Amino acid sequence: MSAYRSHLCHQLRPEDAGQSVTLAGWVGSRRDHGGVIFIDLRDREGITQVVFRPEEHAEIAKASHALRSEDVIMIAGRVEKRSEATVNPNLATGGVEVVATSLTVLNKSEVPPFPLDDPAVHEDLRLQYRYLDLRTPHMHKNLRLRHRVTKATRDYFDEQGFLEIETPILSNPTPEGARDFLVPSRMQAGSFYALPQAPQQYKQLLQVGGLEKYFQIARCFRDEDLRADRQPEFTQIDVEASFVDDTDIQTLTEGLLKRIFKEARAVEIPTPFPRLTYRDAMDRFGSDKPDLRFAMELVDLTDIFLESQFKVFRSIVDSKGVIRALNAKGAAALLSKEQLKKWEEWVKTEFGAKGLAYIKWSAGGEWESPIVKFFSEAEKQALAERLQFAEGDVLFFGAANWHNACEVLGRVRLRCADLLGLINAAGDVLNFLWVVDFPLLQFAPEENKWVAVHHPFTRPKVEDVSLLERGEYDPVRAVAYDVVLNGVELGGGSIRIHERELQAKMFEALGIGPGEQQHKFGHILKAFSFGAPPHGGIALGLDRLVMLIAGAESIREVIAFPKNNRGADLMSHSPSEVEPKQWRELHLQPQVIVKK
Ligand code: AMO
Ligand code: AMP
Repeated sequence: MSAYRSHLCHQLRPEDAGQSVTLAGWVGSRRDHGGVIFIDLRDREGITQVVFRPEEHAEIAKASHALRSEDVIMIAGRVEKRSEATVNPNLATGGVEVVATSLTVLNKSEVPPFPLDDPAVHEDLRLQYRYLDLRTPHMHKNLRLRHRVTKATRDYFDEQGFLEIETPILSNPTPEGARDFLVPSRMQAGSFYALPQAPQQYKQLLQVGGLEKYFQIARCFRDEDLRADRQPEFTQIDVEASFVDDTDIQTLTEGLLKRIFKEARAVEIPTPFPRLTYRDAMDRFGSDKPDLRFAMELVDLTDIFLESQFKVFRSIVDSKGVIRALNAKGAAALLSKEQLKKWEEWVKTEFGAKGLAYIKWSAGGEWESPIVKFFSEAEKQALAERLQFAEGDVLFFGAANWHNACEVLGRVRLRCADLLGLINAAGDVLNFLWVVDFPLLQFAPEENKWVAVHHPFTRPKVEDVSLLERGEYDPVRAVAYDVVLNGVELGGGSIRIHERELQAKMFEALGIGPGEQQHKFGHILKAFSFGAPPHGGIALGLDRLVMLIAGAESIREVIAFPKNNRGADLMSHSPSEVEPKQWRELHLQPQVIVKK
């Protein structure tokens, strides 16, 4: 096979007994049984037990005493069948062992800073020594899976007639809602490249360029707060096509996911996926990426409280807000008054809620609630009926504007599902859905302006264009769609604006005046004036997809060299300071940075 080995460590079987073989790899565990040394020799594919017998090869057996975990060795030896009693049924090669006749130490290892087979090692230490962490079967499995997913993706798109085309990393800002990473230019003093948050503009320009069907396994960069499913640098399966509508892109994406799940996980996923409008998703589940593995829907109670004596609800109803609630069936036994207080603190601090009113009905008890004393009998009866309130349940109330009330209860819904074990109970279910008809724009009070819900290139629905023209932004819907799996946003896309005038109108709605449009987006506006075809596309988060298939808790588990939550690579120490000379070359003033 190579100068180092005749076989890999997962290959030998009892039928190979008597063969002379050479193997190479790392020393896993090493055991000394009265002078006879046993080691587990490990390579990427598996483990083979190697025995050093002093009575057969005294010199080599002696040398084997010096072997330590993670030394790299090459051995030659003879395959022997193991006796019945010593067969290891947990190992593919458990029926054999190799009796070493020669040993070459290719490289010694220092004592590793953590045992590689210990799942409880702190993640910081794993990241600091990522190259050792990568030796674990867990990481091998995840990276193999990632390879299978990208391979299936490339095969699929190739068969569908798509071309894989690379787009620049040193580019101009393309707004996707995050902060840009900037790279100062040496050759043009005072100018900066932006790393792409997504190849959005380039993939559209490829359509203007007549390439018609594009895809890319694309690296994207976003300077935003990091979480388990967010990295500053991540990968998208990025797609764009011409002469397509939203259904075409959705069908194409379903086909891709079908192929990926078949090849990477050997499951058939049913298509087409169900569709839910954004409005319904928020209304019923309080999220634009609802987890539908369990029900627990939000219920509207606004009409019940129109004339209420309870001031908090009444004032909200009077100011056109809504009263909504959800019933956490069976949660009464799991939530003490103290815990309910903590939940209230949580929604207040995390989601800016004004409160989290509840009614708890313990088995055999009364309704316990800070608010029920303000309710009339009719109100109590009506809400109990609508929510199918029963002993053992807890009701949660959200009173606010529609969006906030839904969002807060959506978070409470997920937490209740976790508490009640509803997600575990769902087992291996893969719940895919499309969320469609997103709003085109939303008002950002902190910036006091309208911002794009997806990005500025998203097309308004044809029947809503006149609203956009009249400046009535709130109800304008976009031809935009997100694909959701088990409550995680896997991907999002849209049909794009391809007309120069409509694009300019959209920029205007976003508060980008003609001067700024020319300065920032002149190239794309110009391109649209040279016969841009109708086009649209989507991008799927590859890291998130692989994470979900692997059943991992974080995308860091499926990225070879991820950053930690502070955006740092603990192994290579990036980001790092640079020499004053480098600042000067980039025409920047060296600064003393005040570290927090
Ligand atoms: P969007 O911004 O929705 O759309 O991104 C598409 C998908 O990329 C993944 N994703 C991330 N994954 C890891 N870390 C991050 N920081 C991160 N940010 C996003 C998500 C998300 O669904 N250009 C548009 C697509 C289009 O319109 O075609 C875009 O980038 O899974
Ligand atoms: P307060 O009058 O603010 O003390 O609130 C009385 C009860 O109503 C408390 O249990 C609050 O948690 C709850 N509450 C107040 N405002 C809201 C709201 N906007 N939505 C849900 N519950 C609320």
